[in-house]
Amino acid sequence: MKKKISKIFLCQSCGQEYARWAGKCESCGKWNTIVEESGGDRFSSTPSYKKSATYKEPVPIDSISSDNTKRLSSGLAELDLVLGGGFVPGSLILVGGEPGVGKSTLILEISRSMISQGKKILYISGEESSAQVGLRAARMNVLSKDLLLSSETYAENISAMVEDVSPDLVFVDSIQTLTREALPNQAGTVTQLRECTQVLLETSKRTGIPILMTGHITKDGAIAGPKVLEHLVDTVLYFEGDKLNYFRLLRAVKNRFGAVGDLAVFEMLESGLKEVTDRQRVFISSLTEGKSGSVISSVMEGSRALSVEVQALVSRTNYSQARRMAEGPDTRRLILLAAVIEKYLGHTLSECDIFGNLAGGLQIDEPALDLAICASILSSYTERPVQSGYAVIGEVGLSGEVRSVGQATLRLKELKGVGIETVYLPKGNLAEIEKIPGLELVGINSLRELEGLFR
Ligand SMILES: Nc1ncnc2c1ncn2[C@@H]1O[C@H](COP(=O)(O)OP(=O)(O)OP(=O)(O)O)[C@@H](O)[C@H]1O
Ligand SMILES: [Mg+2]
Repeated sequence: MKKKISKIFLCQSCGQEYARWAGKCESCGKWNTIVEESGGDRFSSTPSYKKSATYKEPVPIDSISSDNTKRLSSGLAELDLVLGGGFVPGSLILVGGEPGVGKSTLILEISRSMISQGKKILYISGEESSAQVGLRAARMNVLSKDLLLSSETYAENISAMVEDVSPDLVFVDSIQTLTREALPNQAGTVTQLRECTQVLLETSKRTGIPILMTGHITKDGAIAGPKVLEHLVDTVLYFEGDKLNYFRLLRAVKNRFGAVGDLAVFEMLESGLKEVTDRQRVFISSLTEGKSGSVISSVMEGSRALSVEVQALVSRTNYSQARRMAEGPDTRRLILLAAVIEKYLGHTLSECDIFGNLAGGLQIDEPALDLAICASILSSYTERPVQSGYAVIGEVGLSGEVRSVGQATLRLKELKGVGIETVYLPKGNLAEIEKIPGLELVGINSLRELEGLFR
């Protein structure tokens, strides 16, 4: 007879399961991350295939009421867009972000907006005491009897509470603080994260009430806990931003009910988070107008084009080996493009440190930004500012050739909207572009043809 195994061992870093303990995880290579978890009788030799009491008959898809898919607007237009048109009833949403980025503030901001539409909110805060949340709510002036606060951390109790209170929307801050009473593991362990997320998932599906939960991000940018958490939920949003400036970016990285990549921009004020609708103010700095090293370009964020400002600083190095560093664009791309400029335009950049940046704390790695990176390096190196009202888009190849980019018309329309009058772009794109009145287009094939861009 086969022996029944009732224990499993789980790597706390990657979630890999083992039948016995080991010092090193074969999957992620980390040491001392494998701990014993109670795994039930999953290795039982007598599996049961009988119908359970909760067995559900399949139903024809055209008999499902379309009312179920009626979305609940958050009242924040930018957030609704990222969600793909508002909260879908019964959906579970995960908002990941670094500590202190403003996840709890975002929750109160959404609450404020929903309450003003006459909605009822349940806010479960396992992370902070009610007094702490109350203090923030008072600062942000979100005090209302329609915002119910609880510091419950048992997942089962939360499920019962959601049913009792029957709110329009539930917030759980954060998933790492929840536990299932029956499990011996500490809050935040892989098993607890997975089990508690399952409880929330089941609760939202059963009651039809959307639940938004927050989750911490580890140093390398992943939501703490295994990827399995991201697989379980319907939507994953990342809340990010440069802590030194006041803008915060919210983007969807997974969405079962909408496009991914769309971006919402918020400004962190003492009174809370304010939606930013004039993005030009965030990503294009009026202070750098007429200064060398600054170039306007356009990137795609999901289905939308976004005008951005690429900045470069090229200065003579004091080290034996020149430094290259980029924040926003990819450093490897900056190194490669600097080498292309050196080889094909003959500038001795090897004696210079080069720093690249994107205004507004954006992190974007898109080939269409190549030409703007090259132009900003050239502008800073030659100390010649880019002409006022000019922008560039294009990918740069290893022999200095300028290659076509996708979605050129969308990008040009967005650039026109922020006051750009002339755009340098790949010649290959010229044929397919709709004519945009008031926008002059200069098609180029190589980096050498950028000369007319500078003053
Ligand atoms: N008086 C204030 N004026 C302006 N901004 C403030 C003020 N107090 C706090 N903030 C902002 O709020 C941020 C903290 O927000 P919040 O507590 O919502 O973050 P969080 O992501 O929930 O953090 P945690 O991971 O610790 O839960 C701070 O980093 C700061 O930018
Ligand atoms: Mg918080």
